Amino acid sequence: MNSKNSISLIGFMGSGKTTIAKLLSKRLNKKIIEMDQLVLDKTSYNDINEIFTKKGELYFRELEIKTAKSIKDLKNKVISTGGGVVMNKIIIDYLKQNSLIFYLKTKFNTIKTRLIKDTSRPLFKDIKTAKQLFKLRTPLYEYYSDYQITTDNKTPNQITNEIIKIYRKYGNS
Ligand code: S3P
Repeated sequence: MNSKNSISLIGFMGSGKTTIAKLLSKRLNKKIIEMDQLVLDKTSYNDINEIFTKKGELYFRELEIKTAKSIKDLKNKVISTGGGVVMNKIIIDYLKQNSLIFYLKTKFNTIKTRLIKDTSRPLFKDIKTAKQLFKLRTPLYEYYSDYQITTDNKTPNQITNEIIKIYRKYGNS
């Protein structure tokens, strides 16, 4: 039996981490942790765009590492991460302490359709750059995750069910 009783969701922006985390949280009766929100709480800024504009990405990444460190010992949580957590292995190491890591694998075209009009994400401002980032990160999501869940053409409930099935088998539920 695995001693890990949290679930961390990783994946590119727009892959559905927040939506699925909410459903998992309800179904498994575990509190949800939104890493982006915790990062924001460490600042006096109003949103992630503002952090990027005023302080730059590196500053955001440092706060992201501090946030991951601050939650590493928490148990029994559903953690929705920011899409860039795979850029710092230390974050993954912190998450792995108590979590099974699920990668929500979503095609770039699906993500593009979802985020084309979204203005809240500093790293999804133009499609070409976002696609390059997607290509760079895909192998990292694959490498760092314990399980991959493809999400295209599935409902949020189907995705949640798949994760719960694996979690019940391999996690400490
Ligand atoms: C980022 C993803 C965002 C947020 C920040 C950076 C990234 O989170 O952490 O804008 O580098 O991919 P979501 O994946 O929830 O959009």
